[in-house]
Amino acid sequence: MLGNFSYCNPTKLYFGDDSLKYLNGELAKYGKNVVLIYGKNSIKKNGIYDEVVEILKANNKNIAEISGVMPNPTLEKLYEGIDIARKHKADLLLAVGGGSVCDYAKAVSVSVNCDEDPWDKYYIKFEEPTCDIIPVGCVLTMVGTGSEMNAGSVITNRKTKMKIGHVFADENVMPRFSVLNPKYTLTLPHYQMVSGIYDIFNHICEQYFSGEDDNTSDYISEGLMRSVIHSSRIANKDPQNYEARSNIMWTATWALNTLISRGKATDWMVHMLGQAVGAHTDAAHGMTLAAVSLPYYRHIMPYGLKKFVRFAKNVWDVDTTNKTDQQAAEEGLKAMESWMKELGLVMNITELGANENMLEGLAQSTIVLTDGYKSLEHDEIIEIFKNSL
Ligand code: NZQ
Ligand code: ZN
Repeated sequence: MLGNFSYCNPTKLYFGDDSLKYLNGELAKYGKNVVLIYGKNSIKKNGIYDEVVEILKANNKNIAEISGVMPNPTLEKLYEGIDIARKHKADLLLAVGGGSVCDYAKAVSVSVNCDEDPWDKYYIKFEEPTCDIIPVGCVLTMVGTGSEMNAGSVITNRKTKMKIGHVFADENVMPRFSVLNPKYTLTLPHYQMVSGIYDIFNHICEQYFSGEDDNTSDYISEGLMRSVIHSSRIANKDPQNYEARSNIMWTATWALNTLISRGKATDWMVHMLGQAVGAHTDAAHGMTLAAVSLPYYRHIMPYGLKKFVRFAKNVWDVDTTNKTDQQAAEEGLKAMESWMKELGLVMNITELGANENMLEGLAQSTIVLTDGYKSLEHDEIIEIFKNSL
């Protein structure tokens, strides 16, 4: 491990099938005015809304609501939420939902007391908050993004067709607490469940496929990948299996709560490509990643061959004897491909609504990061999208 770093993660987690009761203790720490933030109708259908509101009322909170936060939350929706939170003089933003709701709450939290335009300040200039941040708490209902224990917030600007994530350096942007009840994820449709599973897996890949140094983070990553592969196979066959869903939930949190990126370079290009697809198609986040991953990894494999061999051996148990590095590495990616197909992931961007005429636009919307094994040129991005069609 050669990098220098600091590590601080202040989010308090309550995990398990009785974890919601701890919301009572957390609510006592904040003022009366709570803004309850949620998506469309899943929490009303499965009863989580009623459970949360009952606890808020029992704690004498004044509740305002921001409902209808869509997957891939938009800038327009953000402006609407800022207005509601300002009028309500919010003391706490309580996000009940998946990554979209949680990310959105963070974006509101850094914007309520800020006079500047949040898109310009946080998503174009990538500035840090210079105002008071409203505390965010989270009750997670969809697993994958890690938003429950990180300072990431992804917002989509539909006008400019840019979907941009800001991972804030200020740890006060992280949720103050998150309630993780695996039971709440049991009502997710299969499509969302596997989309989240691939999101988890890819978060680990993004932090694994980079750097040449011997790094503890990579060993932790391999363990997390093995766990998510194992549990996903069980959950895919038996979605109501609490133990598997519980492991998936916990892996998701550790995959992106800053731990496994410490002391090393990270890549994040699958996310940049996937976010471009998301900006143009509004597809589910994890599926956008699944659709571009293999063409991307096959493209960069020669530049990080040793790591791909290690991935094949340590994550997929590929027997590398009498094989060239190239053959072993390819076998690893093949094993990953069959696991992805087994889960029923979307393996191309055509199915998500993209087509040949959109290639240039997709490339224009792709932010290029340079810490992975290969910095992509424009024509390489086009090629990867073409191979993803
Ligand atoms: O809106 P409702 O009706 O609640 O339905 C949601 C939504 O349609 C549904 N859902 C959630 N919990 C459910 C449920 N349906 C049934 N039962 C439940 N228990 O699931 C759908 C998707 O929800 P969403 O929150 O959009 O999914 P996800 O958690 O994948 O979040 C995606 C967003 O997070 C961003 C993505 O870019 C995308 O905008 N990300 C955030 C990151 C971060 N903060 O670090 C990193 C990630 O890489 C990602 O970019
Ligand atoms: Zn992701």
